[in-house]
Amino acid sequence: MCGIVGYVGPRSAQDTVIDGLRRLEYRGYDSAGVAVVSGGDLHVEKRAGKLANLEKVLDEESLPTAGIGIGHTRWATHGPPNDVNAHPHTGGARRIALVHNGIIENFVELRDRVEDDDHELLSDTDTEIVAHLVELQVESGFDLTTAMQRVCQQLDGAFTLVAIDSEDPDTVVAARRNSPLVVGLGEGENFLGSDVAAFIEFTREALELGQDQIVVMTRDHVEVTDFWGRPVEAKRFHVDWDLSAAEKDGHDWFMRKEIFEQPRTVADSLIGRRTKSGQLQLDEMRLADEELRDVDKIIIIACGTSFYAGMVAKYAIEHWTRTPVEVELASEFRYRDPIIDATTLIVAISQSGETADTLHAIMHARAQKAKVLAICNTNRSSIPRESDAVIYTHAGPEIGVASTKGFLTQLVACYLLALYIAQVKGTRFGDEIDEIMEQLEAMPDHIETVLGSAATVYDLARAHVGTRSVLFLGRHAGYPVALEGALKLKELAYIHAEGFAAGELKHGPIALIEEGLPVLCVVPPKGRDQLHGKMLSGIQEVRARGARTICLAEEGDASIEPYADVLIRLPKVPVLLQPLVAIVPLQLFACELATALGHDVDQPRNLAKSVTVE
Ligand code: F6R
Repeated sequence: MCGIVGYVGPRSAQDTVIDGLRRLEYRGYDSAGVAVVSGGDLHVEKRAGKLANLEKVLDEESLPTAGIGIGHTRWATHGPPNDVNAHPHTGGARRIALVHNGIIENFVELRDRVEDDDHELLSDTDTEIVAHLVELQVESGFDLTTAMQRVCQQLDGAFTLVAIDSEDPDTVVAARRNSPLVVGLGEGENFLGSDVAAFIEFTREALELGQDQIVVMTRDHVEVTDFWGRPVEAKRFHVDWDLSAAEKDGHDWFMRKEIFEQPRTVADSLIGRRTKSGQLQLDEMRLADEELRDVDKIIIIACGTSFYAGMVAKYAIEHWTRTPVEVELASEFRYRDPIIDATTLIVAISQSGETADTLHAIMHARAQKAKVLAICNTNRSSIPRESDAVIYTHAGPEIGVASTKGFLTQLVACYLLALYIAQVKGTRFGDEIDEIMEQLEAMPDHIETVLGSAATVYDLARAHVGTRSVLFLGRHAGYPVALEGALKLKELAYIHAEGFAAGELKHGPIALIEEGLPVLCVVPPKGRDQLHGKMLSGIQEVRARGARTICLAEEGDASIEPYADVLIRLPKVPVLLQPLVAIVPLQLFACELATALGHDVDQPRNLAKSVTVE
């Protein structure tokens, strides 16, 4: 949601904080701000809009030289994105500056308390109330660390807080609950960030903070306690990311770079999954085979693109393991009193590992004794940490707000999970599993082939600049692809787009078809079932009513030619694996159309990369 940075050391605090914010801007870009302590005073600068707005102001007049500072890039929750609501916020006496990611749920009650104390609040944010509360504590004689502890004990909700005190120019204090925060350990300097991208330029040694912990940081010392001041051991780790992973590699957008990385990321997500004897192994899985054998129902929970990966997973898991699977939006799951028990396996899919809806859904499931397995891209993020087991997707950092390589690697992880359960439960013979694994291992080359015809898709996209509405049709595993293709177009090009199961069209949506309406159709491979023929009928029905059909169909499928106004060829792959290739032209289409429309593809309006509030 928001990006948070903290620094103490010999460098320029302003420059170090701004550098960190630049790498975290994908988390939110409604406003940005920085605060430093210099000469016994707080100096704060903040601006609505992207970080560039703040940088422009600081270029004209920078903050005084300082070796301690905090910064924030915001995705608005409480109050509109303007200068006043931008973080950092200060207490009434401007002694404390504080930044916050998350939501304080009992802020109304706390606000009343602050206002009763005659404090005037300037912003609409819950954060400003916390700044006042911390300041009240330091003004009554507590040091910043104790003040933070005492305030955290009163807070409900999710928060990462980072604060500095003008009367203690050597110490940064931060706290976390249900919201990310990592510490970067330097030599004579230390860093804080919502993720390691904030500081990998300076150090690769880091500390992972647990739930309800406070970190106190000076140049030479880092101490972690719980909210009651009791020392706790934080886990140290080395960051092995390549800094260039966070750069664009010659592409105009991170998103385009990430689309083109997909052959490699899919290959990476398959590395090390088979033993020498050919058995499937999932190293990070902490669930015993006996536990998996007992599973009689699987519920997949996720949001957005990850939810569509879950829809594909349902087809694969049910087909290969004969275990019933439900797929649920994480935001709805715990509010409908779901039937779960110790033999239910919850699979939580999340690229970021921080999505609040998904995190709270798995907490609910675990409270009812269900086992939770996370499929996640972000090491040590909250969702895998709150789960019993995890399969990491190994896509590397995904910076573009719209998920692409995250989706493909989630699909791979879902296929692997399905095959692993099939191996454990014995629902598929070893040679069948081997054959599917070989097909999966061939996918990076197939994706490369699809990317080879990007130019054709780009031409098509540019020809749709004036289009106001696009429909997407699919069947079976192609149905979630249609939904995902429509989501990509909505979020990037801001064009009305809807995905439908092709068979459902005649039950209502066909009324939308009018002369020239573009309809993108994901055609299933020709197989032994009737899927392909049924899809062809659906395409004919919309074409007969004036739709312009853009069909994605496998190489060699001549039967589609009479009904396709535009034909994009896909490699020949099995129906269950087809989403891995079929989504790629739809990603390219949305990316190029949004570019042609002049939109910011990496940071679409109103969105943030990880949604850490419900
Ligand atoms: C769309 C997109 C979102 C996310 C959703 C869940 O391109 O990225 O729909 O898929 O917010 O996020 P994660 O996977 O991080 O839980």
